[in-house]
Amino acid sequence: MKTLIVKYLPGKEISKTKKLYDHIVKHLNNKNVTEIDLEITQPTFFNNESLMAYYQRNYQGIPLNSEQEKSLKVMDDFTEKVNNADIVILVSPMHNFGMPGIVKTWFDNIIQKGIAFDYGATGPFGMFKGKKALTLYTSAGSYSTEKVTANYPEWDSYTFLSKIEFSFMGFDEIEVISASIGNAETIDENLNNAKLKIDQVLTKWLS
Ligand SMILES: Cc1cc2nc3c(=O)[nH]c(=O)nc-3n(C[C@H](O)[C@H](O)[C@H](O)COP(=O)(O)O)c2cc1C
Repeated sequence: MKTLIVKYLPGKEISKTKKLYDHIVKHLNNKNVTEIDLEITQPTFFNNESLMAYYQRNYQGIPLNSEQEKSLKVMDDFTEKVNNADIVILVSPMHNFGMPGIVKTWFDNIIQKGIAFDYGATGPFGMFKGKKALTLYTSAGSYSTEKVTANYPEWDSYTFLSKIEFSFMGFDEIEVISASIGNAETIDENLNNAKLKIDQVLTKWLS
């Protein structure tokens, strides 16, 4: 089982989400693990050149010249890493009720037509079959994950968008585990509960 960890933990040593990251690293014990730190290897936005190259290659099937290929290289490298993994673990804090922009941009880099998804007779289908995804995040507040509405506490778009993106790419199993940091009295308990859930999921997936 090859595991890809994609992390965005700008709080570094004071990051609370890092406590969940440290837990998965310990659990995985460096067995077949590749890691991307989005702060170091940053995803890119489409500009006109890269978007035209993407349409040309991924929608029209027309080969690119070397300059055009270069414009998609960052996206292609991220996509290849996901393609090579059996398990993808995404770790970051919640920012403004959802995934931080850099994490969304990573999704925008890898969800490529013809590689991550394609269109068939009945509509789009995911191409990353046989893969599992685990998303981990912490937040200050506590939210309902039943649905997303404009009414508190149904404000957690992180869980929903993460499930949608991985489902769209065809991942077979998708789990999201979060910990609300709350206050000084609840932080350890909430993090420990998340760690127990992580152990359950990873033990099942790695067995
Ligand atoms: C820019 C920013 C936006 C945040 N937005 C939210 C939010 O919408 N909801 C929430 O509950 N917490 C929010 N928080 C709090 C963090 O999600 C929370 O403190 C988290 O545990 C931080 O993780 P970290 O220590 O790993 O960075 C935000 C924090 C920052 C810095």
